[in-house]
Amino acid sequence: MGRVFVAGSINMDVVATADRHPKIGETVAGKAVHYFPGGKGANQAVAVAKLGAPSTLIGRLGMDAFGQQLRQFLTAQGVDLALVKDTPDIHTGTAVITIADADNTIVVVPGANALVSDDDVAGPALAKGDVAVSQFEIPQPTIVAFFKRARAAGAITILNPAPAIACGPELLDLVDILILNETELGLLAQTELQETDDPARFAEATRRLPIGPDKIICVTLGKRGVLALVGGEPSLFAGRAVKAVDTTGAGDCFVGALAAQLANGKAIRDAIEHANAAASICVQRMGAAPSLPTAAEVAAVLSS
Ligand code: RIB
Ligand code: NA
Repeated sequence: MGRVFVAGSINMDVVATADRHPKIGETVAGKAVHYFPGGKGANQAVAVAKLGAPSTLIGRLGMDAFGQQLRQFLTAQGVDLALVKDTPDIHTGTAVITIADADNTIVVVPGANALVSDDDVAGPALAKGDVAVSQFEIPQPTIVAFFKRARAAGAITILNPAPAIACGPELLDLVDILILNETELGLLAQTELQETDDPARFAEATRRLPIGPDKIICVTLGKRGVLALVGGEPSLFAGRAVKAVDTTGAGDCFVGALAAQLANGKAIRDAIEHANAAASICVQRMGAAPSLPTAAEVAAVLSS
């Protein structure tokens, strides 16, 4: 069985819920405030651990109260934190999130995440069958260094280019599996896309990505499911009709679940099916990391 190494962000999510989002310059009364563990890297590493694959997170925390709480939480979830460094003189990554009607807005302040370095990713001894995962809340040169090492070791690389930030072929060439939503696809393929577009439009857009046709691409489409391109062939994995309360971290759930399945030796289509089911559970609960499902919960959805 392979292991999953996630190089990525660790954030405290400060979440306010309200009946609606404020307009610019407006104040609205909120209903509740929560402090939820989050950060794309941490969420993905927790998803892996909860689904039963060995999960190691590479990242940085500040030496503050949020850092301590996150360390405790992640350890309790079964994530190996030996490669997460406490960093002086900088705060732990923090996301300020508003949720109204299951839709969110997020402002993420990187703090210590911005300091995850080439040195940090030089730590793990990756091997064939392992899976290396990253996202865009840590510096891109660090991801390049990480994926170069992963590739040299024969590990599979998964990039989730989120949030939507431009990147060049130097990084994309090192990627085996690209997992992105319509906004990220629109940016990287330099085309205008809406969540409501026909899946065929997304498939067409993936052909404009500056990457080779041998890559696997998963476009996550929210409640509509996932459009996957394997060997250039598109197929739609339909979403499940569920009542979403908080979609924060649903993409991370998909990425982590897919990585866990591949580390467990599953074929790509089975892994996508599994990850799609996992994400449908995540959106029905509040919070990012706290909403991630166990293997038993995903199995129950898949057999229903
Ligand atoms: O993908 C969801 C995550 O993005 C949140 O947990 C928040 O921390 C932001 O980084
Ligand atoms: Na959630």
